[in-house]
Amino acid sequence: MGSSIKKAVIPAAGLGTRFLPVTRSVSKVMLPVFNIPTIDFAVTELKKSGINSLAIVVSGLNSDIQKYFESVADMQIEFILQEEANGLGDAILQAEKWVNGESFCVILPDDLIIGEAPTIKQMISIHSRHDTAVLALKSVEDERVPFLGIVESQQIDISTHRITKCVEKPKIEDAPSNLAIIGRYIFTNEIFEYIKQTTKGALGEIQITDAINAQAKEKDVYGYEFPEEHFDTGNPAGLLEASIGYAVRYPEKAPGLIKFIKSLNL
Ligand code: G1P
Repeated sequence: MGSSIKKAVIPAAGLGTRFLPVTRSVSKVMLPVFNIPTIDFAVTELKKSGINSLAIVVSGLNSDIQKYFESVADMQIEFILQEEANGLGDAILQAEKWVNGESFCVILPDDLIIGEAPTIKQMISIHSRHDTAVLALKSVEDERVPFLGIVESQQIDISTHRITKCVEKPKIEDAPSNLAIIGRYIFTNEIFEYIKQTTKGALGEIQITDAINAQAKEKDVYGYEFPEEHFDTGNPAGLLEASIGYAVRYPEKAPGLIKFIKSLNL
């Protein structure tokens, strides 16, 4: 039996260049889907999954993110500084001391998953059975492949895979499949050693995918193919799609929106 997960890390130090000019003064994770900052969705998912200890990795202290969470009482939040933008693997590594030897989870606020069952909670239950790392997976269209981490895997049952390899941002012709890593991870503490051995990869950054690939060569790593709806809010069009998807799903929050969309006669 694996340990239960009590701690989470949210990397929020990305510079948000795809969202300039707004990210000159607003952190990317504070951009809203409808009226809720993407990071707030991540925190809600953690709370629903029984996690109340969180480290947010930021690129500067005293930011809008800290201000936003000042009055949150039911989550203990620690802010950790990533001094240089060295990639996701490096951002997660900054939390090593805080994680203090335990297994933990990571949520990327860019990846909004709308559904009843929190994806992280499902992944924690896989971790508790196998005591391994677990990655969230979703099948994506060919054109998305070069922008994501892509896995090679053996399917174990309808939603569970054993990962044999993962590649960060492959060319479509080099991709082992169309199964992408979506921003939910459970890590055992060993991941920190694998990150430390990882050299710069795609985009000249320390990629978490490369560290997981090294781990998958030596240990079991599982994947959870989640059924819920997923939005990539990491670019302006994706953020807008997520807002529309959210408002359509909760029509009472946006009276008139569906009528407006129909009136466009697309
Ligand atoms: C990151 C990960 C990538 C993953 C993606 C999911 O990429 O490096 O493996 O597929 O998140 O959103 P980024 O979006 O930071 O480029």
